[in-house]
Amino acid sequence: MAPTTSTMPATGIRWADHSLALAQRATPAERRAGTAAPAFGTALTEHMISARWSPEHGWHATEIVPYRPLRLDPATVALHYGQSVFEGLKAFRRPDGVPVLFRAADHGRRFQRSAARLAMPALAVDDFVAALSALVRTDEAWVPYEEARSLYLRPLMFAADASLALRPAATYRFLVVAFVTESFFGSTAGPVSVWAGRDYIRAAPGGTGDIKYGGNYAPTYLAQQQAAEHDCQQVVWLDATERRWVEEMGGMNIFFVRREGGRDVLTTPPLTGTLLPGVTRESILTLSAGLGLPCAERPVSLSQWRDEVASGVITEAFACGTAAVLTPIGRVVTEDGGFDAGAGEPGKVCGRLRDALVAVQRGVVPDPYGWRTAVR
Ligand code: COI
Repeated sequence: MAPTTSTMPATGIRWADHSLALAQRATPAERRAGTAAPAFGTALTEHMISARWSPEHGWHATEIVPYRPLRLDPATVALHYGQSVFEGLKAFRRPDGVPVLFRAADHGRRFQRSAARLAMPALAVDDFVAALSALVRTDEAWVPYEEARSLYLRPLMFAADASLALRPAATYRFLVVAFVTESFFGSTAGPVSVWAGRDYIRAAPGGTGDIKYGGNYAPTYLAQQQAAEHDCQQVVWLDATERRWVEEMGGMNIFFVRREGGRDVLTTPPLTGTLLPGVTRESILTLSAGLGLPCAERPVSLSQWRDEVASGVITEAFACGTAAVLTPIGRVVTEDGGFDAGAGEPGKVCGRLRDALVAVQRGVVPDPYGWRTAVR
């Protein structure tokens, strides 16, 4: 029988509107004219990287192509079983106008670890960085000059077999798309409020919480809805076993500033295997040493957070990630009530660290750690 859509009830959904992605893209000229900040993930550039992997040929068909929708078999493995990993990193403009990738090789190494956890092939770190550089070179006009903006790069690898057998696919695709970004939290300026509920968890020991995998994100949406019901913008994740230890905030790592022996100590939960080893987290730990700010990787419990704010030990809390950079946390809401996340002052330490990070990302200070890759 010929396929038909005539029995499909009218839902108002436009099933095949390929024009949407194109229409959402602002041109570089429009951006220079000072268009409003594009919503996160919508101002996609004109090109993308595409490559394929097969056991016979390894990585092949490596191309820079115009940004366009994919043609996928409905039995594509990644759509059904989630064998798919991604990364998120940024390109900035140096003061002399040269675009730079920030910590591209570190993202490449994490991409390899994510792929290995899902039994997917490795992409060499050099090839990963070369792909990002090629896209940034091609769409160079899209790398913003404005200080508040950057080009967010989204590498993705997914299982491409058209077969619903429950086993690792034999073939894979690698893509990189890019978009202009400004603020991850939209128009929200200033500290965010967070919901620390106990109904849902983000990650469990032995699971996938320490890799960049789509399956870590969609299951957080219901908790995010609960957060909104409690007038909070984000979720704070507690550990799966005791629902006691603070692990992350939303899709970001979390830091506390604690007064210890008359000095500030930057404190962040240790990488137990259920936390994402954030590149921004690691950058902050490294930069804090240069600022003379001691840091400790130590667990902090939710009750400790509340008590230590009350006793003046915890003075600040903030989250960090590639997309959101450093974001102060203002208030914590729990099933038993709520408390201020820090001493209520503007986060001085958070501000210092943010400035230090942005300066190294944008190339306005030297790069002692070799974090920047110039794209020429
Ligand atoms: C990032 O911080 O870049 C992230 O990956 C968060 C995200 C999934 C939007």
